Amino acid sequence: MATTLSEAYGDSPLQLKHIIPLDFDSIHDLPDSHVWTESVDLLSGKHICQAHVDESDVPIVDLTAPNAVEVLGNACRKWGMFQVTNHGVPSSLLGNAESYVRRLFALPAEQKRKALRSPGGATGYGVARISPFFSKLMWHEGFTIMGSAVEHAKLLWPQDYEKFCNAMDSYQKQMKSLAHKILVLMLKSLEAKDQETLLSTASVHQSEGALQLNSYPCCPNHKQAIGLAPHTDSLLLTILHQNDTEGLQVFRENTGWITAPPVSGALVVNIGDLLHIVSNGLFPTVYHRVIPNEMRHRFSMAFFYGPQSDSVVAPLSNLGFPRYRSVTVKEYLSIKNKHLDKAIPILKTV
Ligand code: OGA
Ligand code: NI
Repeated sequence: MATTLSEAYGDSPLQLKHIIPLDFDSIHDLPDSHVWTESVDLLSGKHICQAHVDESDVPIVDLTAPNAVEVLGNACRKWGMFQVTNHGVPSSLLGNAESYVRRLFALPAEQKRKALRSPGGATGYGVARISPFFSKLMWHEGFTIMGSAVEHAKLLWPQDYEKFCNAMDSYQKQMKSLAHKILVLMLKSLEAKDQETLLSTASVHQSEGALQLNSYPCCPNHKQAIGLAPHTDSLLLTILHQNDTEGLQVFRENTGWITAPPVSGALVVNIGDLLHIVSNGLFPTVYHRVIPNEMRHRFSMAFFYGPQSDSVVAPLSNLGFPRYRSVTVKEYLSIKNKHLDKAIPILKTV
């Protein structure tokens, strides 16, 4: 039987301390468990670098511009992250989804814990999946949806879960079709010749996705805390909607951390590990992180888009000698579950 994305994600059971978020409402000082200092195991010191002021901003791609493919291709090669405007997703839909995200995270801690992710599971309420790789905890709580949110939403609102589920369904539907459209443009910019298999396993009907709702409450001593530790996303690409509170940063070689500020009407797109493989390394899979804010509560909705779990991902044939071996989506997720940022180097052919 075919494996689903949620089975592939859940293949290594976690301890409860790596699932239950803090009760943020009851906390007024940053607990030791959440204090990140420079000696902490953040990836290769990437947290210490400060961005130079002269570095340009995360590129903006107008999807309706006549040269969209070129601008988007450049952004993918040089940054691995960009913001899209004129993407066709109605702002009312984004606003509606965001209001349900706020409602969810505003529930009392004991209520949210009713929808806790199970130790071997992938969906529901909990801390970030990368938490077990770090000795300190993050100033963050999340809720993961793969397909329908009904199972966990019923635990949160036994009588009144449908509105939440409908908002999440419409949001995911829009994100899936936008992600597919962006993938087509990306493949065009790579002048791909053998993209048919990828496009069919990542079609609107066959593709698999996950919706990650993130909440970063106002944070005391925010300079010593991390909202989401540096990581790359695993699938093909991620589309992120953030509320009007900044915090997302992308790592640039020789420069440091650059903020991807909220831009009205824009969605953030970043390359994930699988697209790095497909592009034979031409598109960098970008390290990004979230820093918490002292005064404002940040929310985001990240849609991770990938091909069917059983499908094979490999570098496109027109991009020269393959630098990575081919891998199924589920095999890749299992390697990443064990090795995090070493997963891509493990697949190198030379
Ligand atoms: C993620 C992520 C960034 C954000 O969920 O993988 O990188 O701004 N989120 O919340
Ligand atoms: Ni991410």
